Amino acid sequence: MQKSIGREDAEVSDRFRVTEFDPGDALEGDGDDVITGLTEAQKWLPARYFYDDRGSALFEQITELPEYYLTRSEEAILAKSSGDIARRTGACELIELGSGSARKTRILLDAYAGLGHQVRYLPIDVSAGILKSSAGELLATFPALEIWGLIGTYGDALTGLPERTLPQRMVIFLGSTIGNLNNVEMAAFLAIVRGALAEGEYFLVGADLQKPIEIIEAAYNDAGGVTVLFNLNMLEHLNRRFDGDFDLAKFSHRAVYDRRYDRIEMHLVSSERQSVNLAKLDLVVEFAAGETILTEISRKFDLPSLRKRFAEAGFAAIETWTDPDQHFSLTLFRAE
Ligand code: SAH
Ligand code: AVI
Repeated sequence: MQKSIGREDAEVSDRFRVTEFDPGDALEGDGDDVITGLTEAQKWLPARYFYDDRGSALFEQITELPEYYLTRSEEAILAKSSGDIARRTGACELIELGSGSARKTRILLDAYAGLGHQVRYLPIDVSAGILKSSAGELLATFPALEIWGLIGTYGDALTGLPERTLPQRMVIFLGSTIGNLNNVEMAAFLAIVRGALAEGEYFLVGADLQKPIEIIEAAYNDAGGVTVLFNLNMLEHLNRRFDGDFDLAKFSHRAVYDRRYDRIEMHLVSSERQSVNLAKLDLVVEFAAGETILTEISRKFDLPSLRKRFAEAGFAAIETWTDPDQHFSLTLFRAE
């Protein structure tokens, strides 16, 4: 079910609309996926459960960490490529997946504003608080910008987009969040994105690249321990959302690179044998000492395979930009 909620701030309400998708109807399931994940041999949880208000704030802290090169690298790439991108698309609806704080999106919006190209911005995120606050900040900075926020999963929002008002669309997916999807999820996801675009429209994708393992493992095991808090926060979020009794003191963080799949895996490790109850899901989960929950994969790509996967889904790579260290990439794809 889709419901429109008004914006309380009357000063910007004519430029800001929000659609909130009911999580209970999410294509990806709300709670069903928790039951599935916690009852498989290798327990796992969908990475989207990291993101309540605290999870989003912790992710923002991660982006500032000295070890977490991803955000800085992508920011540098956007600074040099945004003008070209804006010139190519012209006036455009920018549909951003997992927009978060939209800090890097500002670089693109600046480029469009500088060229005088009209933009309608449609951020999509499951984390309602950060979507609304970042939209408020963008409206204050960009006086001509119109925003329609979509609070929900990528699938729900992309299949429930409002009518277009500009002739051109570009879907944006920054941060290498695409790396949090496995191959099966990625194929289904790319099909949905392709379905939201007409032939000739654009898809801008940030992807983290393969590099020495020490650099990657350090980014997910920061010395300040912010990633530990981020990982554990998923349990706190599940406790609140599904009336659970995860004891955070009985789980620890582990992040290890798996060369077979070119991905870092984040786990929560149970320190002892224990039972956890998620009352709203009618689910009791048994843990052995040392047993883990896989909370996230973060894939590190090579550009030819990434382009091949996108080509199979109907997207042709137009241009790829990288940072001088070749740590990160940004590719502009066109729907064929
Ligand atoms: N794009 C920002 C934020 C990345 S963090 C950046 O590059 O820094 C990932 C974001 O995606 C979070 O804000 C999270 O809430 C959102 N997210 C994760 N899974 C999602 C899903 N399945 N559907 C919609 N949003 C999701
Ligand atoms: C959002 N996503 C791309 C981040 C990543 O690097 O995979 C989430 C994250 N996990 C741990 N640190 C940051």
